[in-house]
Amino acid sequence: MKGIILAGGLGTRLNPLTAITNKHLLPVYDKPMIYYPLQTLVNAGIEDIMIVCGGNNAGDFLRLLGNGSEFGLKHLNYAYQHGQGGIAEAVGLAHHFAGGDKVVIMLGDNIIENNIRKAVQEFDKQDSGSMILLKEVQNPREYGIAELDGDVIKEIVEKPENPKTNFAVIGIYMYDNRVFEIVKTLKPSARGELEITDVNNAYIKMGQMRYEFLDGYWADAGESVDALLETNNFVKKFGANKLD
Ligand code: G1P
Repeated sequence: MKGIILAGGLGTRLNPLTAITNKHLLPVYDKPMIYYPLQTLVNAGIEDIMIVCGGNNAGDFLRLLGNGSEFGLKHLNYAYQHGQGGIAEAVGLAHHFAGGDKVVIMLGDNIIENNIRKAVQEFDKQDSGSMILLKEVQNPREYGIAELDGDVIKEIVEKPENPKTNFAVIGIYMYDNRVFEIVKTLKPSARGELEITDVNNAYIKMGQMRYEFLDGYWADAGESVDALLETNNFVKKFGANKLD
């Protein structure tokens, strides 16, 4: 299983904080934001990781993270995403790196409190298909929102005007290798991006999507300046990426 961290985009929602650096290099309490998803994947037992970066400051990722030795890694892989073609476009850039393996993908601005190792191990046992993690939120219009029918996800709607539930799809996605074929079929959304929600809905249509609810805190720290501040305060008080 390979890990992919998506750290491209221009971070326009955080301007002017992102005017001269990449969103994922901004501080979250005492570390750059990108440290947190990297630690999440390492704690889940994933050692072969690619960071898809972008923007004018992509070289700073290399200077900051090097070969990942601070995280106990032997090497780190990098790819570059031009512009802001969306999360699903960034996934496509990791095709060569993934080879024929399954992938665990994490958004570079998502920060969690606990360990996802158990969910990753469950997914590893699946022959095929995908798994996503859900979290109940107060502001469902800001996220991909899942409509559930018992154990089955019926549909995910990206930033719905009239959300049917409060169950946000967090930025950790586990896919079999078909994800790379699905990405090639996508068309840009109204915001001009290839949407990860369209990838998820493709798996749902095939009856190949499982979900679990995430334990503990989750933040989309790049969602707004307020979300970034709240995440900083949470991490200072309670920490992140606990081992068990
Ligand atoms: C993205 C996804 C959305 C998901 C969110 C989680 O939103 O499109 O479905 O709920 O990440 O962080 P974005 O941050 O690109 O607006």
